[in-house]
Amino acid sequence: MTNQAVTELITRSNRLGSDPKNTNYAGGNTSAKGTEIDPVTGEPVELVWVKGSGGDLGTLTASGLAVLRLDRMRQLVNVYPGVEREDEMVAAFDYCLHGKGGAAPSIDTAMHGLVDAPHVDHLHPDSGIAVATAVDGEELTAKIFGDRVVWVPWRRPGFQLGLDIAKIKADNPQAIGCILGGHGITAWGETSEECEANSLEIIRTAEAYIADHSKSEPFGAMLDGYAALPDDERRAKAAALAPTLRSIASFDKPMVGHFTDDERVLEFLSGGEHPRLAELGTSCPDHFLRTKVKPLVLDLRADASVEDCIARLAELHEAYRADYQAYYERHATPDSPAIRGADPLIILVPGVGMFSYGKDKQTARVAGEFYLNAINVMRGAEGLSTYQPIDESEKFKIEYWALEEAKLKRMPKPKALATRIALVTGAASGIGKAIAVRLAAEGACVVIADLDAGKAQAAAAEIGNTDAAVGIAADVTDETAVQAAVDATLLAFGGIDIVINNAGLSLSKALLDTSVADWDLQHNVMAKGSFLVSRAAAKALIEQKLGGDIVYISSKNSLFAGPNNIAYSATKADQAHQVRLLAAELGEYGVKVNGINPDGVVRGSGIFAGGWGAKRAAVYGVPEEELGKYYASRTLLKREVLPENVANAVFVLCSEDLSHTTGLHIPVDAGVAAAFLR
Ligand SMILES: NC(=O)c1ccc[n+]([C@@H]2O[C@H](COP(=O)([O-])OP(=O)(O)OC[C@H]3O[C@@H](n4cnc5c(N)ncnc54)[C@H](O)[C@@H]3O)[C@@H](O)[C@H]2O)c1
Ligand SMILES: [Zn+2]
Repeated sequence: MTNQAVTELITRSNRLGSDPKNTNYAGGNTSAKGTEIDPVTGEPVELVWVKGSGGDLGTLTASGLAVLRLDRMRQLVNVYPGVEREDEMVAAFDYCLHGKGGAAPSIDTAMHGLVDAPHVDHLHPDSGIAVATAVDGEELTAKIFGDRVVWVPWRRPGFQLGLDIAKIKADNPQAIGCILGGHGITAWGETSEECEANSLEIIRTAEAYIADHSKSEPFGAMLDGYAALPDDERRAKAAALAPTLRSIASFDKPMVGHFTDDERVLEFLSGGEHPRLAELGTSCPDHFLRTKVKPLVLDLRADASVEDCIARLAELHEAYRADYQAYYERHATPDSPAIRGADPLIILVPGVGMFSYGKDKQTARVAGEFYLNAINVMRGAEGLSTYQPIDESEKFKIEYWALEEAKLKRMPKPKALATRIALVTGAASGIGKAIAVRLAAEGACVVIADLDAGKAQAAAAEIGNTDAAVGIAADVTDETAVQAAVDATLLAFGGIDIVINNAGLSLSKALLDTSVADWDLQHNVMAKGSFLVSRAAAKALIEQKLGGDIVYISSKNSLFAGPNNIAYSATKADQAHQVRLLAAELGEYGVKVNGINPDGVVRGSGIFAGGWGAKRAAVYGVPEEELGKYYASRTLLKREVLPENVANAVFVLCSEDLSHTTGLHIPVDAGVAAAFLR
């Protein structure tokens, strides 16, 4: 049976964590103390349940808690070797654990265990951090809260901070919590309700004080020419810049991107103080671990041309890298971990918005959310006073903390297609859908483009949330729609790496029955459609400088000549030759272009279900439902070809294993000698 203290802790944490005003995503931690029967002695034992490392308060469950024995935890005070060696205490927490299977204790565990209160919350609310990062935060705390909330000067999270806060609680029995300089808040209570109420009192009081006392333009007077561009222009410029921005963020290692034109970002960028504030960087450790110490800010007016922006960004990137390298060298000691890459994770473009980057979409999105938190913090701090984040040397100590490095080392190995962004046309059905599913399973971010938006979105939803896959409407025969699909890919995931020309349809007709409309339709969707998609995508691939893969789903019929197939097979042959032509042309940019020749993929195929299957079955004199088997019987391997078999081949073509292969067609037809490549 779940302990009452745990039940209360989970519900309180979920409530607090579900409001972004209370804490940033996955930021902060909560705890409760209580009693259980020790299965070893049969006697009651005092425990502390505390949110473990990682995970988010909003969705916390009991399995996300570390469970420690309070008596043993508190005995650590006797062996504590002092602040210089406080990191050793994290390993010692393992010797305080009660039972097995709980989450790993986080660095904040000491604060929760050592503070003498049954319930403790440690949170990162924007309003609280605004006070915590005001240059006169200590006086402001006294002014706003009287003696109900105590100021604790900045100190890196750890055992010593836990001891400091425990002492403050003991010395100030009237206090409900404290403001942690440069960092966040901690509150406590005798009951879970009281603790939650105290947390909310600190957060809401700070919010109200900022609202009542802030100056009117906390980011400075509006800069001429830096206001947000109109919606359409903004998104068009964002898409036009996205490949270049991704190449900047990915110079050291490839990144996935997230774009937001949230009005709070645009407001920040239109204020005269934004260059100074951005340069000061973020303060809360949770924030800059995801955003890097500072963003790269384009210092051009909103109406600057894309060409001018690209030229200026190249200079700013070089300067950013030199600056980051210098920051690393200023603070690194012989035992510091190696530099982790010198590219920005946040790029701000006045009038347009913010691009944020990470090893996957979720990380990129959360980095953007954290910079938005930092913007809120700066608004509050500058509104009341002057924003002053923690010292650069302290930021370095956290960014390159041995414990942080250990956490990164524990991360699972990335999947084969991690950081790669794929656009698959005609992926709401059949082979395309199977390809999208496979690429996503291998870690790629996927955009499913098809004629019908609803079907494309439904197929994307089967894969996962919008961090994994998005569905969009795009008719590949329409030049404007194709550009919009590529732009949508760039805005959804920050770039594009893999393009699958799969959209297609098939009309089985004899020459004399083939109308001009039949001919045009098939050529428009397959030959022209894949040309349009390849052209629009190649522009982005070239600008990104990260190579890429274009894969054509051609057909056995691009080689094999049979009756009743003039328009379809001719356009498939056209697609097959596009593969060779583009392999020859795009090789110098590291873009590989390959194709697949499937045959007889009946199951799941809309082409077969839509009449083609019935006609083929009639031609071969077999019942339609036996068609798959019939095709299998004609093959050398006697196997039926499934959409997944085609998807497997696409994956192999795009994986590292075929990094040196371009201009190739892989047959996925279970063996058809008449279509052998020679
Ligand atoms: N099924 C097979 O045996 C086989 C064999 C060889 C090649 N192929 C090729 O594989 C590809 C996929 O075929 P499938 O069997 O999965 O068929 P399918 O009908 O299940 O899927 C094709 C998808 O393309 C979409 N589409 C059609 N016109 C479009 C347009 N103008 N713009 C965007 N999307 C469009 C359709 O809506 C559909 O979702 C086609 O290019 C086909 O020629 C299939
Ligand atoms: Zn914290």
